[in-house]
Amino acid sequence: MGFPPECFDSGLAYQARGGDTFIVTYPKCGTTWTQHIVWMLCHDGKPLPLGKNINLEVPHLEEVGGEFVAALPEPRFIKTHFTYELVPHHPEAKYIYVARNPFDCVVSFYYHTKGFVKHYNFAEGSFASFFECFMNGEVDWGDYFEHLIPWVEHRDDANVLFLTYEDMKTNLRSAVKAIAAFLGDSYATKVENPEIIESIVEHASFSSMSKNQSRWSSDRPAGMTPFVRKGEVGDWKSHFSASQTRQLMQKFRERTTGTEAANLWSDLLPSSREQGLGP
Ligand code: A3P
Repeated sequence: MGFPPECFDSGLAYQARGGDTFIVTYPKCGTTWTQHIVWMLCHDGKPLPLGKNINLEVPHLEEVGGEFVAALPEPRFIKTHFTYELVPHHPEAKYIYVARNPFDCVVSFYYHTKGFVKHYNFAEGSFASFFECFMNGEVDWGDYFEHLIPWVEHRDDANVLFLTYEDMKTNLRSAVKAIAAFLGDSYATKVENPEIIESIVEHASFSSMSKNQSRWSSDRPAGMTPFVRKGEVGDWKSHFSASQTRQLMQKFRERTTGTEAANLWSDLLPSSREQGLGP
C-alpha cells in the first residue's frame, strides 16, 4: 500500500481518546465522501478548499502514524481502514463505519489499484486478475468479509454509526443529518441551519467532489481514472462476467449467512434465480 511501515505500526499503537471520532471503512466504500462530510460539519458547511488535503485534515491513521494524530488538537476526526479487532478502541470514542456492497467495491478497488501506479505497479492489470486477488483476500487490508462482518455485529453499539454507501447515495441529506446527530448536539444544531445543510449536501455531491480532486489524493498519471471516479451503485454490472457474478454471490452467501450482513443489500444483489441457481 506504500505507507511507511513505522507509520502503520504507530497507527496500530495509537491510544484512542474519548473525544476521537473514527471514520472506518474497507477501502473504496465511501471513506473520502464521509471524511468530507465530517470536515464540512466542522467548518460550518464550507467545502474543503483547493490546496488542502483531506487525508491530512481528517488524517489517515495508518498513513500518517499515531504520533501525528496524537499531536492534533481535540476533537480529532480520524480515517482508518483497520478491522474491528485492530482499530484503537475507547468506550467514549465514536466510530462511523461505512459499508459498500462487495460487487461495486471490487470494481472501485480495481481502478484504484490500477491508477496508483507508484504504489502498485498494476497499470496494465486486468479486472479478472484483480478479481481473483480480491476473492482470495490478497489485496490491501485483506479480506472484505473479515472487515465487514465484525463491524456489522457491532452496528447497534451506542458509539457506532453504521452507514452504507448505497443509503448515502439514495438519501445524502438524511445521511448528513444522521452523522451530525451522532457527532453530538452542536453538530445536530448546525444542520438545522438551512444554509449549512444545503451547502454540505451540495458540496458532498458527486459532481462537486469530482472537481479539484487534488483535495482527495495525489495526482494520477494521464489516462487513469480520477479518484472520485463514477460514484454509482451497480457499476459492477458492466465489469463482471456471469462466472464472476456467481463466484462472488456464492462467497457472499457462504460468508454472510447467519450474520446481519446477509440482508444488507438484498434488493441490489443478484438473486439465485438470476444466476440459474434455483429459487
Ligand atoms: P467509484 O470508484 O465506484 O466511483 P474511498 O473514498 O473509500 O476510496 O471510496 C471511493 C469511491 O467513493 C469511488 O467509487 C468514488 O467515486 C466514490 N465517491 C467519492 N465521493 C463520492 C460522492 N460525493 N458521491 C458518490 N460517490 C463518491
